[in-house]
Amino acid sequence: MKKNNIVVVIGSSGSIGSALIQELTNQGFQNIIGFSRLSSPSLDLLNEQSIAQSAEFVKNKNIPVSLVFDATGFLYDDNHMPEKTYKNIDLSFMKKNFEINVMGPALIMKYFLPLLDCDEKSIFASISAKVGSISDNRYGGWYSYRASKAALNQIVKTASIEMKMKNKNAICLCIHPGTVESKLSKPFQKNDLKIQSPQESALHIYKILMTSSAKDTGCFYNWDGKKIEW
Ligand SMILES: NC(=O)c1ccc[n+]([C@@H]2O[C@H](COP(=O)([O-])OP(=O)(O)OC[C@H]3O[C@@H](n4cnc5c(N)ncnc54)[C@H](OP(=O)(O)O)[C@@H]3O)[C@@H](O)[C@H]2O)c1
Repeated sequence: MKKNNIVVVIGSSGSIGSALIQELTNQGFQNIIGFSRLSSPSLDLLNEQSIAQSAEFVKNKNIPVSLVFDATGFLYDDNHMPEKTYKNIDLSFMKKNFEINVMGPALIMKYFLPLLDCDEKSIFASISAKVGSISDNRYGGWYSYRASKAALNQIVKTASIEMKMKNKNAICLCIHPGTVESKLSKPFQKNDLKIQSPQESALHIYKILMTSSAKDTGCFYNWDGKKIEW
């Protein structure tokens, strides 16, 4: 990926998103564009027009786009924590998980995938979560988040198949960042888990982005570069 091409990070206000921007800066990328609800233009996953306008902003730069990285996500809010049992399932909370973790990234793909460089390697990657793997589900719970990340995985996989026909140089990936210090993970950090700093996680993600190739499109990566079964 040429260092003067555009690299886009959506969710630039988040722990992992902001650390990835720092890592890309450290690595010498010169045209890094971060989007969040507070950026200008702002990008709100719940507002399709804001996603379209953000993509238009990038397109108007007329510089090849090598990377579109989605670092957004939702797990809990002031009213709800992830469900411990099916008895906790709540329609509004489940909808919010799907709006932010599935429909938002799907709209990002709708407007940003056409911008990916066709002449050289380019990447769309979305941060998923290992708990979205159905084959890896050993503990249960977290119905809405698990199901939304599984749906996100399916959408990225589906886009990877379409992109093989539209842009053979484009790679579509899902990435599990590990357990990383952030607002999103704070209530769930346990002492026995290996908790990474956002900077550590961003470096691992950067290595995956740099080493992946066309044969890897449609894959789900763990932070350490190993592939996760769907
Ligand atoms: N941290 C972990 O241990 C861990 C583990 C597995 C997977 N993940 C995944 O990693 C990703 C990044 O999470 P993080 O740990 O860096 O958490 P974070 O610091 O809380 O970042 C979440 C990001 O999502 C953005 N976001 C939420 N709702 C949005 C909306 N409606 N429109 C636009 N942006 C919105 C936030 O923007 P605002 O600042 O505007 O709220 C923020 O930039 C998520 O997909 C998460 O599921 C994290």
